[in-house]
Amino acid sequence: MRVLDLGCGDGHDLLAWNVVSTDDVTGVDINGARVAAARERFPGRTYWQAAGESLPFADGSFDRVISNAGVPYMDIAKAFTEAHRVLLPGGRLSISVHRWNFTMTELRNCFPKPIPTLFRLYVIANGIIFYCTGRTVRSFTGMTESFQTKRGLRIALCRAGFENISFSEWADGRLVVEASKRKRAGQVAGVATAA
Ligand SMILES: C[S@@+](CC[C@H](N)C(=O)[O-])C[C@H]1O[C@@H](n2cnc3c(N)ncnc32)[C@H](O)[C@@H]1O
Repeated sequence: MRVLDLGCGDGHDLLAWNVVSTDDVTGVDINGARVAAARERFPGRTYWQAAGESLPFADGSFDRVISNAGVPYMDIAKAFTEAHRVLLPGGRLSISVHRWNFTMTELRNCFPKPIPTLFRLYVIANGIIFYCTGRTVRSFTGMTESFQTKRGLRIALCRAGFENISFSEWADGRLVVEASKRKRAGQVAGVATAA
C-alpha cells in the first residue's frame, strides 16, 4: 500500500496508524531540517520537502494519506483538496488534529509574553473561523495554525470531496478523523485501485 505521511516531521513510528513494514511510505514536510532528520531515522521511506497545500505528486498516487498533528499547521481547505487529489478512488485519509484545549494549554504556557500570546489569540480566532466555515486564515507572522472541531472538519472534508467521515478518540486523547475518497462506479469495496 502506498502511504503519504503529511507533515511527517522528524519521522515517527506509524504502527498506531496501522502502517506495516511492507507499506511504501512517503513523508512530506515543509521543514527541510525535519525531512533530513526523518531520512536518517527511517531511511527506508521516501521524502519530499514540500507544502501540504501544494503536493508534488500526480493525481491518484496514494492509497492512504495519514497525518499526525500536521494538518493544524496548514491551510486546511487547500491541504484537504490536495490530499483528495493525490488519493486513488476509494483511498483513505486518517489524521489527528488539535482540539481547542490544546490551544488553551499553549496560551497558558506562553502568557504573558506579548508576541506568543498574540499568536495564540490568533490560533483561537482561526479555530473559531474554522468551526464556522471549514477554512483557515494565515497569521501576521506568515504562519498558519488553528484548532479543529468536528463541525469544521466535516465542512472542510465534504467541500474537498471526502465521504464516510468518522471520528475517534485515541487513548492518549488525540482526536482522529477518517474519511474516504469516493470509489469509482463498480469498484470493489475497500480496495483503492489505480486507473
Ligand atoms: C507537530 S509536528 C508533527 C510531526 C510528525 N507528524 C509527528 O507526529 O511527529 C507538525 C509538522 O508539520 C509540518 N508542517 C507545518 N506546516 C506545513 C505545511 N504547510 N506543509 C507541510 N508540512 C507542514 C512541520 O514542519 C512539522 O514537522
